[in-house]
Amino acid sequence: MQEHRALFVIFGGTGDLAKRKLYPSLFRLFRKGNIATHFAVIGTARREWSNDYFREIIKTAIEPLEPTKEEEEAFVQHFYYQSHNVTNTEEYTVIKTLADRLDEQYEIGGNRLFYLAMAPNFFGVITRHLKSEEIITNNGFNRLVIEKPFGSDYESARLLNEEIREVFEEDQIFRIDHYLGKEMIQNISAIRFANNMIESLWNNRYIDNVQVTLAESLGVEERGGYYDKSGALKDMIQNHALQIVSLLAMEPPRIFDDEEIRQEKIIALRSIRILSEAEVDQFFVRGQYSAGKLKDDTFAAYHDELNVAPDSRTETFVAGKLLIDNFRWAGVPFYIRSGKRLTEKGTRINIVFKPVPVNIFRENEATRKIKGKDVLTIYIQPTEGFSLTMNGKEIGPSFSLAPIKLDYRHSADALENSPEAYERLLLDCLNGDATNFTHWDEVAQSWRIVDVIRQAWDKDTAAIPSYAAGTMGPDEAFQLLEKDGHDWIWQPDAWYRERG
Ligand code: BG6
Repeated sequence: MQEHRALFVIFGGTGDLAKRKLYPSLFRLFRKGNIATHFAVIGTARREWSNDYFREIIKTAIEPLEPTKEEEEAFVQHFYYQSHNVTNTEEYTVIKTLADRLDEQYEIGGNRLFYLAMAPNFFGVITRHLKSEEIITNNGFNRLVIEKPFGSDYESARLLNEEIREVFEEDQIFRIDHYLGKEMIQNISAIRFANNMIESLWNNRYIDNVQVTLAESLGVEERGGYYDKSGALKDMIQNHALQIVSLLAMEPPRIFDDEEIRQEKIIALRSIRILSEAEVDQFFVRGQYSAGKLKDDTFAAYHDELNVAPDSRTETFVAGKLLIDNFRWAGVPFYIRSGKRLTEKGTRINIVFKPVPVNIFRENEATRKIKGKDVLTIYIQPTEGFSLTMNGKEIGPSFSLAPIKLDYRHSADALENSPEAYERLLLDCLNGDATNFTHWDEVAQSWRIVDVIRQAWDKDTAAIPSYAAGTMGPDEAFQLLEKDGHDWIWQPDAWYRERG
């Protein structure tokens, strides 16, 4: 186990993300020995907190991981709090003094990891000060970790990127898309590139369509203020869904390293057609949830949620068809959908294969079952694994075909020790490995794809289709596939239910 030396400076250190994700992930790394003695964490935010109070917050954040008293004490001793107004230049010198002192005290060797877990409008001012006030060191690494959203459209993202690039080089910037830290998202490359039987069929000669669903049963919870300005298109499609599509669509990289993979992902994203306004109308649908029921719970309509405008036109659901105009994928629709308050939480990819060229089985009730559509399903979450649904002969004297499912799921035991997405990404960052982070060119192209959809929708004054909370989206989302002679493939995740 390599012990890393680093000083973490977390802007937005009192925030929800820091408490829910970052501190528990740092604790997991601490427990495993990835960080042990030569590290310190400075949490900064506007609030006036003492070190002691901050350490109590850290203890609460890691409580679910059941640390021993000794572990907990040893861990929190590395945490320091500094209240800070990000626009006040003088206050950066206080952070610098503290950072230099901790660097010496913990023999960190100048490695600094700056984590911006706050509103993007402050990214520029913070990075400028990191340089001008010399918080960036010359003797170790300096890395910048940035949370989404990275801009709100191409233009704002470009300006933001320019500001950051005045201080940090692209290879020092780690833009988080936490989906890339998920076990099964990383497994997409293994499934594709380590199996000839899969990769040799991975093209428009054998694949009929691809379906990516990112479903959530939760609503907007306390995030109505943010979400109402964002909507599902910017919240889930621009980043997570397009990242998944790029991993599915990219060409095999020459070798499996961050540079090569990013290059291939960028090319794949550039091959996704930028739609015309008429195509947006034809290929993309949105929806907003109305009141509904799921099992025994009843849910309010989106426009009645906290901090959401009563006449809001924000979409809580998006379904669309992406066309990838290259040799490998021409003619294969990539259907994507994502929404809040759907029937269940589940991220899943279905690769639907074409039917056999000729059905040699006599047409009768039994053989009619041959849909010819073998399906490779990759279960991203909450269960993790993959399955292959194919046709076989039903046991018995007559010749009947039946679908057979070869099903593999990671066991709960194996998953117990598997790192959580943020833990994995923090460790990658300590290692300087940018494979699972998004390059600026990827972000830029994703915004170009999404901007035209947003612009077309902003012009459209027609009512937004609604769907009852607890369903899988508006009728229009189903019609989108029906028009092409397809169906969304979505069976409830029985395996998950059985095992609770
Ligand atoms: C975030 C979105 O990026 O991803 C949230 O802002 C969404 O709205 C979340 O709920 C989903 O992440 P996960 O890991 O729970 O699927």
